[in-house]
Amino acid sequence: MSFPHAHLLGIEPLAPGDITAILDLAEEYVALNRSAAKHRDVLAGLTQINMFFEASTRTQASFELAGKRLGADVMNMAMQASSLKKGETLIDTALTLNAMHPDLLVVRHPHSGAVDLLAQKVRCAVLNAGDGRHEHPTQALLDALTIRRAKGRLHRLSIAICGDIAHSRVARSNILLLGKMENRVRLVGPPTLMPAGIAEFGVEVFDDMKAGLEGVDVVMMLRLQRERMDGGFIPSEREYYHRYGLDAEKLAYAKEDAIVMHPGPMNRGVEIDGEIADDINRSVIQDQVEMGVAVRMAAMTLLAEGLRARRAA
Ligand code: NCD
Repeated sequence: MSFPHAHLLGIEPLAPGDITAILDLAEEYVALNRSAAKHRDVLAGLTQINMFFEASTRTQASFELAGKRLGADVMNMAMQASSLKKGETLIDTALTLNAMHPDLLVVRHPHSGAVDLLAQKVRCAVLNAGDGRHEHPTQALLDALTIRRAKGRLHRLSIAICGDIAHSRVARSNILLLGKMENRVRLVGPPTLMPAGIAEFGVEVFDDMKAGLEGVDVVMMLRLQRERMDGGFIPSEREYYHRYGLDAEKLAYAKEDAIVMHPGPMNRGVEIDGEIADDINRSVIQDQVEMGVAVRMAAMTLLAEGLRARRAA
């Protein structure tokens, strides 16, 4: 199995075959994670450093668990913007890291492009765990695995991504991935939350939930990302819920067997009704979390194989 990339910085550079390779390997890890002995020595001897310059619950926990299950030495560096505040440049951070000889570096950063920059300065495989509003590749991959398992395929599906698209790296990575795998992507939300130049992405845009959800196979809800908004994007949360919040009435427009997704963290009663989020017949939100660990194990395995091959050469 060969994965021709030194880093996982985004979905953009991946070919459909790369995506399938990660998902197929992740399937094996789903089975491993459900078994009693969840350990394999695939990353034994390697050091994984997680650097989150922005808060995270599930993504950081998931990467940590993924590394530990594969036998890496995993360290979490508590960045929480502290070194950013002290004005340390990314270049200084890279030099510090190089001195510690990591093999896998997992980075989340509030600035779009920061993870790519870091990858150019360190001598290890870098995984982007979310950079600004740019990309969040492992989220799109875990979403893809969740869809593939629920629907039995990952092509020719109709998928509605709803809500705050403009501020969402999850939306960006998903639009890229689902497009590469030949699905039809619809974006649904208020015009104020649609990114500029969205037409270039080959998607259909709707500002009405009922029209946007009509006949879709997958409904993917996104959080209103307040921390990235500087003022009047929505009238009020109540009004937003009324028009764009996913409730039973709006979901009824989707296919009868449509699944409901959300990357978390959820704002219940803002973008999604709590009962729908918890409905095990429709919601695959917990499956997404489960797939997250498996997908991260797969991505790190493939990157580590490449790293070992390059070092041996
Ligand atoms: C997302 C993120 O951080 O981009 N969350 C996640 O990784 N599960 C989405 C969000 O913050 O709304």
